[in-house]
Amino acid sequence: MVQRRIPRPHDLAPLMRFKKPTWDAKQRRLQSALTIQDLRRIAQRRTPRAPFDYTEGAAEAEISLARARQAFEDIEFHPAILRDVSTVDTGWEVLGKRVALPFGIAPTGFTRMMQTEGESAGAAAAAAAGIPFSLSTMGTTSIEDVAAAGGPDGRHWFQLYMWKDRDRSMALVDRAAKAGFDTLLVTVDVPVAGARLRDTRNGMTIPPTLTPKTVVNAIPRPAWWIDFLTTEPLAFASLDRWSGTVAQLLDTMFDPTVTYEDLAWIKAQWPGKLVVKGVQTLADAKRLTDLGVDGILLSNHGGRQLDRAPIPFHLLPDVVREVGRDTEVHLDTGIMSGADIVAAIALGARFTLVGRAYLYGLMAGGRDGVDRMIEILSGQIARTMRLLGVASLEELEPGHVTQLQRLVPRPAPVVAAPVPAPAPSAPRRRSASGSGARSTAAGAGTRTSGTRSRATGAPSTGAPRGDA
Ligand SMILES: Cc1cc2nc3c(=O)[nH]c(=O)nc-3n(C[C@H](O)[C@H](O)[C@H](O)COP(=O)(O)O)c2cc1C
Repeated sequence: MVQRRIPRPHDLAPLMRFKKPTWDAKQRRLQSALTIQDLRRIAQRRTPRAPFDYTEGAAEAEISLARARQAFEDIEFHPAILRDVSTVDTGWEVLGKRVALPFGIAPTGFTRMMQTEGESAGAAAAAAAGIPFSLSTMGTTSIEDVAAAGGPDGRHWFQLYMWKDRDRSMALVDRAAKAGFDTLLVTVDVPVAGARLRDTRNGMTIPPTLTPKTVVNAIPRPAWWIDFLTTEPLAFASLDRWSGTVAQLLDTMFDPTVTYEDLAWIKAQWPGKLVVKGVQTLADAKRLTDLGVDGILLSNHGGRQLDRAPIPFHLLPDVVREVGRDTEVHLDTGIMSGADIVAAIALGARFTLVGRAYLYGLMAGGRDGVDRMIEILSGQIARTMRLLGVASLEELEPGHVTQLQRLVPRPAPVVAAPVPAPAPSAPRRRSASGSGARSTAAGAGTRTSGTRSRATGAPSTGAPRGDA
């Protein structure tokens, strides 16, 4: 028989701890976010539809982006046990300088439209965390202001879109060099703008087109409007005023005739490191490496250009195997967690960039939101490394990662003479260790391996890619 009694407060006190209230609403909001998806939900609540969709959206049917995300979700990790992971080092050298974490902030255009603090918030948060910040040619904060926001500890990269007016493009490059930017990211996957259908449907123009729908959508988002109306007017920092959609702007300004020769010319003018952003085939990766670039960034522009473009994460092992000794291989598109970043490093990437994850943080809480985004990703990176049994990025290797099979590309079909149908035979019995069973070692069975050893470039234990 259970004996009951009246609860006494001093008995209850050790059993229940009340959370200290956080009076700062922004901090309360940000601390409630435990993942980038949580930051995204907060961002969506606070940002009008047109800028939110401009961030979130991709090209055409948005298949590239969905596939890139799926590829990360389909990772399987293979932890080593009984390792000393009491301390873990999440940093190493990227393009000749140390970074504290294996990711940086990707260049994004029109950033102050998402949240008024824009690039200054990104640059300051990146500098505080010891990671690089990339400023887009389509940025809404000047090169010099970004340098000032990052301060003396900031590491800044400038992203170049080559315009038809080459002198003006190179004048920007000059300014970036003078302001101490150490790396030029030359984006090469925008000969013309991708079809961002959400922007067309939302009437996303510069300046924003107000319709009755836009205004209704704005009503529950007063903070964004107050910021928008009471701060420096939104404008491209490096372009003239523009009236139209972003896609129209890209098509008017950008030079679709840019070739490898132009890239060599740009490289000759730039005193720092040069990375080519938007590499999507092994052949181009090899050609760029022969040209002597310092890095190639495997990227499909976050799915915003060619829909159904290759998934950068899938390209990674082959590109690392072929050119990884001669140039740094970086990767972006679809990264939403620290585990995604760890997997990319394990398969040989030297560095990764995050675009939307950063903008979700920015929209959720300005500079503090970007800090929170970095905190979430860095916590996930350190925890994933520890759980994998590695104490440094150098210890990560392809054997730590395999990928469930469904999204892995098959080789192009070889057209051969028709094979006669096999004679019918008795159905085979499945043994416990047979084809249907999961292998415990990296790579066999229904999965495909992350493929190569970082040190030797030799195939690892799994089935070769595309064998399924
Ligand atoms: C809103 C937005 C604007 C972007 N603007 C640019 C840009 O101006 N230049 C550029 O090279 N890439 C741009 N990108 C692409 C990013 O640099 C990066 O490749 C991409 O966001 C990575 O994918 P993720 O968003 O899934 O992380 C933009 C991406 C987004 C989401």
